[in-house]
Amino acid sequence: MTSFDFAPLLAAGLPPPAVKWTGFPKYNFIGGHNDAEQVPVERLTAAATAVLTREGATLATYGLNSGPLGYRPLREFLAGKLRRDAGISCASDEILITSGSLQAIDLVNGILLARGDTVLIEQESYQGSLNRLTRLGVNAVGVPLDGGGMRMDALAAALADLKRRGIRAKYIYTIPTVQNPTGTIMDEARRTELLRLAESHDVPIFEDDCYADLIWDGRRPPALHAMTRSNNVIHIGSFSKSIAPALRVGYIVARWEILSRMLALKTDAGSGALEQMVLAEFCAAHFADHVPRLRRGLRAKLETLMDALAEQFGTAAEFEDPKGGIFLWVKLPDSVDTLKLAPAALASGVAINPGPDWSTDKAYGKSRLRLCFANPSHDAIRQGVATLAEVCQREFGVPVRSANIEQRGHARSG
Ligand SMILES: Cc1ncc(COP(=O)(O)O)c(C=O)c1O
Repeated sequence: MTSFDFAPLLAAGLPPPAVKWTGFPKYNFIGGHNDAEQVPVERLTAAATAVLTREGATLATYGLNSGPLGYRPLREFLAGKLRRDAGISCASDEILITSGSLQAIDLVNGILLARGDTVLIEQESYQGSLNRLTRLGVNAVGVPLDGGGMRMDALAAALADLKRRGIRAKYIYTIPTVQNPTGTIMDEARRTELLRLAESHDVPIFEDDCYADLIWDGRRPPALHAMTRSNNVIHIGSFSKSIAPALRVGYIVARWEILSRMLALKTDAGSGALEQMVLAEFCAAHFADHVPRLRRGLRAKLETLMDALAEQFGTAAEFEDPKGGIFLWVKLPDSVDTLKLAPAALASGVAINPGPDWSTDKAYGKSRLRLCFANPSHDAIRQGVATLAEVCQREFGVPVRSANIEQRGHARSG
């Protein structure tokens, strides 16, 4: 039997085909996965039983009798949580539940962006956001960061430059609270300055806040959405990092005028209902004690990763000790090209994110890499870093001597 040939029928402009999944690599430092041991399986099971027993019949209707914004008790939980933790005051009808915050990003982009538009974005940023902008044909102007997040002098200069050229940016995209990949947190003073600049240039802010629950000491600055006086911030978040990414539950906080435009683009007739119901049931009772436990486990894995890097790479691996999150942004010597290191490491079972994939400045990213530490076990972290050092030694002569105990501890630069 010959197979029908779909190729000549494919729509123009499709992205390249997906690569077939062949299982996880042995040492998996990519993908933003969570810690399997920290998934609260028993409590999720109990929550599922309770909510289905009580309200299972509402599955008969699209939207669970809660309407297209998503399961009302989950939106009510979020409204309370966002008020307590982030200072955001919003009604549950100003929250749209999405299929992960990736769909939230698509919806924000969907209502605002057209080919040829310009946005401002932290120079190092989430690959999922960068790729979307590339695919949409949008000009992403990278704004450099320092230890406190997006640099306001650089943002002011970029906004002024655009103004000179008669361009009004569609938004300023920022991950202000545990930035991906740099792990920085923007303090309140800088947030005030960011809002001032955005307002004076009449540009909205797109605040992506999915890591805010994962700060080691639990203390976060207020969200930009909470601080704005002109309602110019669209805020998105996710349960992927605080509970589990496979649930695919994220959300958007915005005014109804904005949400109503997004709802018109959200053509899936509602995000998955079961996960929304289970999350609402679980979170109301357990979110507050689940998250500190998760944070302690993640912090312990980060310690293991930083120790392993210091042991295996010595001073060749430079990094800041992040204040939270699930990843470490590492600088190797300039001679290392992480776009070449990544496939060589993968051949030895170690998956890493090469820096250029996470930056608008490919040259700046060349010797940098991102390591996610949430998913691998402590042993896998140690072995994976040792294997990475071997591969890097072989390919680039770095580190000069691996496992040099004398160099231990010198790698942390803050
Ligand atoms: C900054 C940022 N935004 C959004 C997402 C998307 O997450 P999800 O769709 O699982 O909510 C991620 C995932 O890693 C992320 O790092």
